[in-house]
Amino acid sequence: MLKQRHFLSLSDYSSFDIKLLLDTADEMKKHPKPFRKALKGQILIMIFETPFLRTRISFEAGMSHLGGTTQVLASEDIRLDWDEPIADTAAVLSRYVDGIMVRTRQHQTVLDLAESGTVPVINGLTDLENPCQALADLQTLREKFGRLEGLKLTYIGDGNNMAHALLHATARTGMDCTLIMPRTEKYQCLPGVVARAREEHEQQGTRLHITDDLNAARGSHVIYTDTWVSMGQEADRVQRIEAFRGYSVTQEVMELAGSSAVFMHCLPAYRGYEVMPEVIDGPQSIIYDQAENRMWAQMAVLYHLLGEE
Ligand code: NVA
Repeated sequence: MLKQRHFLSLSDYSSFDIKLLLDTADEMKKHPKPFRKALKGQILIMIFETPFLRTRISFEAGMSHLGGTTQVLASEDIRLDWDEPIADTAAVLSRYVDGIMVRTRQHQTVLDLAESGTVPVINGLTDLENPCQALADLQTLREKFGRLEGLKLTYIGDGNNMAHALLHATARTGMDCTLIMPRTEKYQCLPGVVARAREEHEQQGTRLHITDDLNAARGSHVIYTDTWVSMGQEADRVQRIEAFRGYSVTQEVMELAGSSAVFMHCLPAYRGYEVMPEVIDGPQSIIYDQAENRMWAQMAVLYHLLGEE
């Protein structure tokens, strides 16, 4: 049984709890049948303030596989930043449904919903962290390598929500983490997140290395990147593309990592920018396995949060 009531950040989860979620996700993927009624009669409400293709479909499909149903509130139905107080929204929704998944910009919104509601809240992506994707990525890596401990993951690009989630995900699972990004402060991970992740890595005895040198990708098992222009940053697009030139994942970067390394991306991807087409569409890419495992990993989260008393 999980110790947490919500799924807001991987940093809230112990190594033990992450392993439990991954084991459940694997079991569901291998043997989905026994889980078909696990959440029968339960309703997950999904609140989207930002675009949501993969998140919506993977949660809808996941709830269906578990026998539950979903309802969607999109940004035209609700604006958590200026409608009624979040405490009221959370309290009322908790009377109707069994769980809340929210995808929004402000992480504080997710924290407020969790604090004021009485049902589990799942972070479907905020500007601070993308924990569902990182959990799916751990599942994907365990499938590919048969283990997580001792792997070296190198993330190249923007110090964004994905990088933050990977900082915690690696620390919790015994993986070394290298971040390669420009030195400019606004493209780096938030100092508070790095400090916390550094402590987590020190406790685990794993290595956290942050640099602007692409050579640090040498010997990585995993090369990971994300868009240079996240949702909400569109106005800075030109400046960002300029700042990140030179940080594309090219075939040369993959060669530095080695022939057994895998390439990962949380999607949506922009070919020719953060990654070259020959890499993302090449034999080392495992992006569609990651996308598939979003569903299984989220199903494990739903099962443990909504299904256990
Ligand atoms: N960093 C990206 C992740 C999308 C899944 C964004 O926030 O837009």
